[in-house]
Amino acid sequence: MTKFYELSTANRLAQLRAEDSIDDDDLRVLTDEPALPTAVAANMVENQIGNFPVPLGLADHFVIDGEALRVPMAVEEPSVIAAASNAAQRIARAGGFRTSIRRDGIIAQIVFTGIPASPEVLQMFVREHEAEIRKVAHNAHPSLQTHGGGLRKVSVSASAEGFEEIDLLIDPGDAMGANVVNTIAEAVAKYCAERLDGLDLLMAILSNKTENQRARSEARIDFGNLPTRDMDGEEVAHHIVAAARFAEVSPLRAATHNKGIMNGINAVVLATGNDTRNISAAAYADLNEQRKTWTKWSIDEERRQLVGHIDIPLPLGSVGGAMSTLPMAKLSLKLLHNPDASRLMGIVASVGLASNLSAMRALVTRGIQEGHMNLQFKSLAMSAGAKPDELEQVVAALRADSSNASLETATSLLNQMRNTLK
Ligand code: MEV
Repeated sequence: MTKFYELSTANRLAQLRAEDSIDDDDLRVLTDEPALPTAVAANMVENQIGNFPVPLGLADHFVIDGEALRVPMAVEEPSVIAAASNAAQRIARAGGFRTSIRRDGIIAQIVFTGIPASPEVLQMFVREHEAEIRKVAHNAHPSLQTHGGGLRKVSVSASAEGFEEIDLLIDPGDAMGANVVNTIAEAVAKYCAERLDGLDLLMAILSNKTENQRARSEARIDFGNLPTRDMDGEEVAHHIVAAARFAEVSPLRAATHNKGIMNGINAVVLATGNDTRNISAAAYADLNEQRKTWTKWSIDEERRQLVGHIDIPLPLGSVGGAMSTLPMAKLSLKLLHNPDASRLMGIVASVGLASNLSAMRALVTRGIQEGHMNLQFKSLAMSAGAKPDELEQVVAALRADSSNASLETATSLLNQMRNTLK
């Protein structure tokens, strides 16, 4: 049977339709122009003048907690989807990804300036007013409780350099949470400010440091599924472990290692209408001098497997915001079988781990350019206007003289090819 990646876009859509993964309306969203109607886009941002489409593709072969999935990814970099699919296939052969999720809430900071009469003033205020604060929080967003969320904890953070801080831990249910958390924080801030003499309210805002919303995923790969033409699987596994270890000791390398993880994560986050900046901010806020990356790789000698773990804050949502307005985001979630937010976190973390594996396997064997350049050549050929039946020839010619590959060369090669066929 022809593999998914070997099909034309039209045939991929036909297969998805035949499998009932998409219906006729979805087909229209995927093929009609524009996928994002101006009436919607104009109300999403100020001064809207158009849309900025990036390709949406499906990373194939993912098996996550026993469920087989094709994962939608929105990304402009040619090799990202191929790399994720390639690693997912190796991981699926050993049973796929196993995830565990913690989704305990997001912290909002209510910050005051000025020194209270004594350090205990705020503590006492919170103790005495906690029931009222909970009421104010509830009334600011009454429907949150019906969606399983709400204010979980009110606490006073140790004061620092003239700043006093009340923290709210808020469970946003299945929403990403920015709107609901900020609405509640502002309402509670107003209530507190009116009652706290001598303190000035500076701000109330959620923190993007979300260590309570984190996803873990584990992947195993048999040595037998790792070899290349020139290296056996066990050696590849040991080199991957060394590469991962190097990222832990080299800040220069850690930045690139993490970029590779983010390649996968960002693309799924964008495809599902989540906030890519929020996810980046949360993920990087988890790193420090001691912890330079989110992944760890080791060897299980007994089972002759390479073992990978990712542990990363991912404050994702599966309802609300752009997820409900962007037709492509709704469709991506449908292709993922409409996961709740926790499930989506596990999927996204797994794609990050897969991207990391693929990058390291390429780096410690043939290098990344070989695979990368093939896709780059294809992209150049397409930009030059090559039709599907012309692609292969233009790509081969670009590869043969790779140091001169450019859009100009691709265009001239295509023209030459067409002229000789006349
Ligand atoms: C390229 O987009 C990402 C890599 O550089 C990641 C890595 O080096 O691990 C290949």
